[in-house]
Amino acid sequence: MNILEVRDLKIYFYAEQGIVKAVDGISFDIKKGSTLGLAGESGSGKTVTALSILNLVDPPGKIINGQIKYNGASLLDLDAEKMRMLRGKEISIVFQEPLTALNPVLSIEEQMYEMLLAHRRLSKNGCHKIVIEYLKKVNIPSPQKILKDYPHQLSGGTRQRVMIAMSLLLNPKLIILDEPTTALDVTIQAAILDLLMQLKEEMDLSILFITHDLGIIAEIADDVVILEKGRVVEKAGTLEIFENPKNDYTKRLLNAARFLEVSPL
Ligand SMILES: Nc1ncnc2c1ncn2[C@@H]1O[C@H](COP(=O)(O)OP(=O)(O)OP(=O)(O)O)[C@@H](O)[C@H]1O
Ligand SMILES: [Mg+2]
Repeated sequence: MNILEVRDLKIYFYAEQGIVKAVDGISFDIKKGSTLGLAGESGSGKTVTALSILNLVDPPGKIINGQIKYNGASLLDLDAEKMRMLRGKEISIVFQEPLTALNPVLSIEEQMYEMLLAHRRLSKNGCHKIVIEYLKKVNIPSPQKILKDYPHQLSGGTRQRVMIAMSLLLNPKLIILDEPTTALDVTIQAAILDLLMQLKEEMDLSILFITHDLGIIAEIADDVVILEKGRVVEKAGTLEIFENPKNDYTKRLLNAARFLEVSPL
């Protein structure tokens, strides 16, 4: 059973210099309850693919072809209001740099309340309880202490935890993580990956995990899609990709992550 199905998706940018085929006919599935890793070099189309799922591709970019189905229902046909209801509630997204994704002029508490109140009728007290519960879920030790803080006052790791808490606040089924740990140092990165895997089980999530780092994919993904210049060059179970990569580009990515012995020819 697939939670998400993408078919022959094409996203083009109509720039002054000409048409950029950022995504050029890709197809992939995310099985319910699984983690799909989407990997590829910078510019291969990973972020644009993620944005298209929630219809967030802005001009000059345009989805010009394809199907995106969530639990069998077509997402590209949804009107703006239905899509707004779905964002955060069914599918949510976490970006690489939480400083740009969080609102700089609202405290953590204010932005989390705002998100809850956009979808649910709750008292202030009701909001408070849920916010504390979710900040605890992401292992922020004293949530009370950061409620009145503004995003820039938090460390990078805490900010990313807050982003993850916010993305889970409405209990979505599918969460898209676009390089969520790239800006963090290695030990914090590892802790956040552990947390995500734990939350996935606890909350019965399906995950689309975007990264250029196949080392991370090896740790957390069930299946992998490799993108090169807007096209899928390889698609398989994670073990299969690591044991028997078929495509030269995949092998180069694996080499970059030092997963292949370089043959001494
Ligand atoms: N606003 C834009 N105008 C023109 N082209 C764009 C725009 N945004 C993205 N693109 C093009 O779309 C392609 C895919 O971009 P995308 O951001 O999806 O790459 P990515 O795989 O996420 O890269 P990275 O690893 O650096 O985040 C790029 O080659 C880029 O040139
Ligand atoms: Mg990107």
